[in-house]
Amino acid sequence: MKRIITYGTFDLLHYGHINLLQRAKERGDYLIVALSEDEFNEKYKNKKCYFNYEERKHLLEAVRYVDLVIPEKSWNQKVHDIQLYQVDVFVMGDDWKGKFDFMTEYCDVIYFPRTKMISTTQIKNDLKTVDQERTVQV
Ligand code: CTP
Repeated sequence: MKRIITYGTFDLLHYGHINLLQRAKERGDYLIVALSEDEFNEKYKNKKCYFNYEERKHLLEAVRYVDLVIPEKSWNQKVHDIQLYQVDVFVMGDDWKGKFDFMTEYCDVIYFPRTKMISTTQIKNDLKTVDQERTVQV
């Protein structure tokens, strides 16, 4: 069985995330998502999520491409995860291109092109704009 792993926050799950998960799953049989915990996001990624860890996990578990969700607690757990889950392929979006090349010592590393024109940040900003426009109209 070929196992794939990917890491991320996946807040406000959107079609860019789904495309990444679908492409990742196409590379093998079993897809593991290491999902950034709230504390890790806030402390190390400077991200405050709309959905908390349990809510984001619940959403990911409902996606047909995802077989297992594990917590991401630190930047340096990757080698441990890959060995523990006997991972064959490590997948990330190309916003991380080159950053994980050192992992080729342990498994294949693939960067997929990001889906254009969509991100969690974009959604948050767009919703703010809609809200402001509404306030102006009232
Ligand atoms: N991703 C992607 N295409 C997008 C958005 C995200 O392929 N349009 C990928 C990222 O490259 C990453 C994974 O989805 O491998 C999780 O990304 P995440 O940072 O959680 O999502 P973003 O929408 O980029 O969130 P933010 O705006 O907070 O950075």
